[in-house]
Parts: sequence; C-alpha cells; structure tokens
Amino acid sequence: MNGKAIHRCLHVLDLDRSLDFYERALGMTEIRRMGPEDGSWTNVFIGNDASGFQLELTWNRGRTEPYDNGGRDSHLAFTVPDLDAAHAIHEQMGCICHENAKMGLYFIEDPDGCWLEILPRKAEFAPQGGVDVLAALDERRSVRHYSGKPIPSELLERIIRAGLCSASGRGRRPWELIVVRDRETLEKLATCREAGAAMLADADAAIVVVADPEVSDTWIEDCAIVMANMHLEASASGVGSCWIQGRMRQAADGRSTGDFVAELLEIPKAYELESILSLGMPQEAAVTREFDEGLRAKVHAERF
Ligand SMILES: Cc1cc2nc3c(=O)[nH]c(=O)nc-3n(C[C@H](O)[C@H](O)[C@H](O)COP(=O)(O)O)c2cc1C
Repeated sequence: MNGKAIHRCLHVLDLDRSLDFYERALGMTEIRRMGPEDGSWTNVFIGNDASGFQLELTWNRGRTEPYDNGGRDSHLAFTVPDLDAAHAIHEQMGCICHENAKMGLYFIEDPDGCWLEILPRKAEFAPQGGVDVLAALDERRSVRHYSGKPIPSELLERIIRAGLCSASGRGRRPWELIVVRDRETLEKLATCREAGAAMLADADAAIVVVADPEVSDTWIEDCAIVMANMHLEASASGVGSCWIQGRMRQAADGRSTGDFVAELLEIPKAYELESILSLGMPQEAAVTREFDEGLRAKVHAERF
C-alpha cells in the first residue's frame, strides 16, 4: 500500500500575506478554500501546474501567537526551472534565509517562519517532481452522481487545457469544444440520448466535443484523445466526470443524438458530434479499483 503525499498543512497568522508570498515566491495560487459559516477558521489549498502537491494554509481567527511550522528543523523542497531567476525574485522579496552555493541551493522563509528549500530542476529530481500519470490512471473512474457544488473555475480551466494539449493526426486539431454551464441547457442535453446521458441534468458543466471530418480523417481518434485527456485531468483534479457517447446514438425524441445536440447548441453543419463529457463535483469519493492482473492476458509478446 503506497500512501501518496498530496498536501502539507501550514498554519498562518495573516492569510492574505501568506497567499501573496506563495504566489510571488513560488507561483502557487488558490485552488480551493473551506471553512465554517461563522468564519472562525479558513483552509486555503494552493498549488501550481508544476506538480499535484498542494499546501494547505490554515488560518484561525483571533490567533496572534506565532505558529511553529517546523522553523529550520524541517523544510519543504521546491524545484525551479531557472535557479538564477528564482534567486533574483527571492532576493527582491527579501526572503532568502540561508544559502549553500557549493550545493547550488538556498532556503527562503515564509511569513510564518517555515523554511522552503529551493533547488534547480535537475534530471535526478525529475522522478519526484513529475506528475504520476499511472497513479492518476489507476484512480480514474466514471462519476455519474454530483454534489451540486460548483466546480472551481481553475479546475475547469485545467480540464479544458488538458483537452487542448491533445495529440492529433498530423497536428490538425479538427475539434472544437463547447462548454455548457447553463442549467436549462444541461437539462435539455440530458435527453440527447434515450439512456446514458441522464447525469447531465445534475452536472455542473458539460464539454461537448465536435469535429469537422473534412479537416482530418482521424477526427474520431482526435476527439477521443481530447475526451480521454479531459476525463483523466478531471479525475486527477478531484472533479467527477463521465464520457457520453455521441456518435451512432439516438435522442429520447427519436432524432439522432448528433442532430439533437447540433440544434440545441447551434453547431455549424460541417461539424459532427463525437462525445460529451459531463462534469460535477462528486457526491462521494469514487471507489478506486485494484489493478486487474488478468488484463495482462490481453498483452501479446511479438505475435498475437
Ligand atoms: C467511448 C465511451 C463511451 C461511453 N459512453 C457512455 C455513455 O454514453 N454513458 C455513460 O454513462 N457512460 C459511458 N461511458 C463510460 C463507461 O461506461 C465506463 O468507462 C465503463 O463502464 C468503465 O467504468 P469506469 O470508467 O468507472 O472504469 C463511455 C465510455 C467510453 C470510453
């Protein structure tokens, strides 16, 4: 059983000051926040695209006594793509607290006294710093029940970006994505299939993937990669999602799913519907599965 490190909690006296520090020093911005209605405490999770690791900044109302977040007895380490550039920023911020030029690293101190080690992004750190795609694939599930809470806009942006980064035949990118947030439209979309799309009625968003087959004869594969990448990024970001087949299916009113969706979303005639990704914050944590070792029988060595 391998535990996956996902965040480290730090207590902060001045939340705004700490948010400003981490954004300027390490490009970490707010991903989500939580706390009771009475405002007695707030937890803000911050992170960036460099890894899935997050810091949880915890603020407690009324606290004035300094926190002990480990001081110089423990530290968090960050790699940066350009050590000199990072050093210049940190020098200007006045937060460098220790340097070890011989080892090519230095430390900065956050507003609450936590030491952060700054390292160059060398090849030997890459296996630690990279996002674990296989772990994300292991955890991916189709999620069809949503809590009704809105998807944080940064997470929706990440999901869209994952789709836009997709490989495509000859790099032609024949696809277009239509992001639907309007409740009435989502409810109508839920009837684009006789069955299999009902979850859209409770979804917070749908991303409809269409393509122009004239632009590339690999349009179906290209759209499927966009879908797979967005589905995976959603799962890795803690957003529930489910793939809804668009081609060769019928709407509840007897029209083809493609015609139904094209009319509803005013899609130009040249485009074909490939599929739809329904998205919402999960009602409950998805049940992850153990890897099915029996699947290895599907892999053939040298000949079928
Ligand atoms: C090409 C494709 C089409 C799918 N179409 C639908 C669909 O129309 N409705 C639905 O509820 N799930 C759909 N799914 C989700 C599958 O049912 C789901 O991936 C499968 O049951 C395995 O479950 P898992 O994703 O949780 O591993 C589709 C998945 C793929 C890859």
